[in-house]
Amino acid sequence: AVDITSLRSDADIITLDSGYGNTGSCESAITFINGEEGILRYRGYPIEQLAESATFPEISYLLIYGELPNLEQLSNFRQQLTFHSMIHEDMKKFFEGFRPSAHPMAILSAMVASMSTYYPELAEDDDMNVIRLLAKAKTIAAYAYKKSIGQPFIYPRDDLSYCANFLHMMFAMPTTTYDVPPELANALNMLLILHADHEQNCSTSTVRMVASSQANFFASISAGIGALSGPLHGGANQKVLEMLEMIQQDGGDYMKYVNLAKDKDDEFRLMGFGHRVYKNFDPRATFLRKAADNVIKTMGIDDPLLNIAKGLEEVALSDEYFIERKLYPNVDFYSGILYRAMGIPSAMFTVMFALGRLPGWIAHWKELRQDPGSRINRPRQVYTGPNERTYVPMDQR
Ligand code: ACO
Repeated sequence: AVDITSLRSDADIITLDSGYGNTGSCESAITFINGEEGILRYRGYPIEQLAESATFPEISYLLIYGELPNLEQLSNFRQQLTFHSMIHEDMKKFFEGFRPSAHPMAILSAMVASMSTYYPELAEDDDMNVIRLLAKAKTIAAYAYKKSIGQPFIYPRDDLSYCANFLHMMFAMPTTTYDVPPELANALNMLLILHADHEQNCSTSTVRMVASSQANFFASISAGIGALSGPLHGGANQKVLEMLEMIQQDGGDYMKYVNLAKDKDDEFRLMGFGHRVYKNFDPRATFLRKAADNVIKTMGIDDPLLNIAKGLEEVALSDEYFIERKLYPNVDFYSGILYRAMGIPSAMFTVMFALGRLPGWIAHWKELRQDPGSRINRPRQVYTGPNERTYVPMDQR
């Protein structure tokens, strides 16, 4: 029970909004969402148009600087992102200390935090650190994968696009030539754009929370990576795949798992279903569903997990439990399926999400830091502990 005395003695009235379902934490000009109508816009541009036509560096520029770049601006930005792709040779030694089984998300957040030891924050250096982070995160991500499979690191190449460069570092070997298939680079470009921002989600709010104390840029982003790793947030894409594999190994009876998800005595949830904000459909999921179908057809992939995914999708869209609660497949449901088709291992799925979300985190970090009215984020609480007690010495307990 809530202790009314302690509440009153504080002389404040506290509004309790568990999980911040209806609490605005800031004003922001970056991303607009209408959850009822399934609308998502970056800086006013509909997500469908951007995912169809733009490139990830272009969208990063849009989110971070507020406007679409012209040709010269984009070419400078791309050049910078390419030029800063390599990580400091000494930073490579950090990888030696991680266990081969370390989760790549843990490596990514540790390595991003460690960037502050190489690039201390100077006010006039903000934009340089933004470039460094965007350029080097993909290299760190690919190295984390190479470390996990015991293969040598592959250096970035100056002649490749952002997405092709990442795929090159993931899949090339020093002993053979590897040409990045354009359909893979295009699919990755689209996936990263779809994930690039989503207003005050858990990880972005975390970035803003940490940044509000004026902690350094890399510490703020590293905290966001940690928040994203959870299975109720970005970690869901890996969990979707693991769930589909589990159902397949169990004979493919997905109805058993649908019933488990509906059972309130069981903790099991259908991963990749439901969203705090979208109560009609997730526009990213609608776009991705079609795109995943196309890519999988083009690549001639016949994956039994896809049939299970389709079955789950149909049940969830026709079953009262899911309809009543407005639980639709979310972006993570389809991104996992597409990443698998692209040959990306499931432990890397959430890292891919993080690479996509970087420009969003950066844009929010900048917005907060440039807001003259911003102050440290400091929520209150409703105290539910004991009333005042007298300390009991050790020999009397
Ligand atoms: N499977 C079964 N039931 C579910 C699911 C699910 N995936 N999601 C929600 N529910 C049920 C809840 O049990 C609850 O039922 P009740 O009203 O009978 O108690 C009701 O739907 C509302 O759920 P909440 O947990 O209150 O919704 P909330 O907004 O807090 O959570 C979340 C949203 C975390 C996305 C949730 O739907 C979930 O856990 N989904 C699975 C994980 C997932 O896919 N996460 C990715 C989110 S998208 C992203 O990060 C990009």
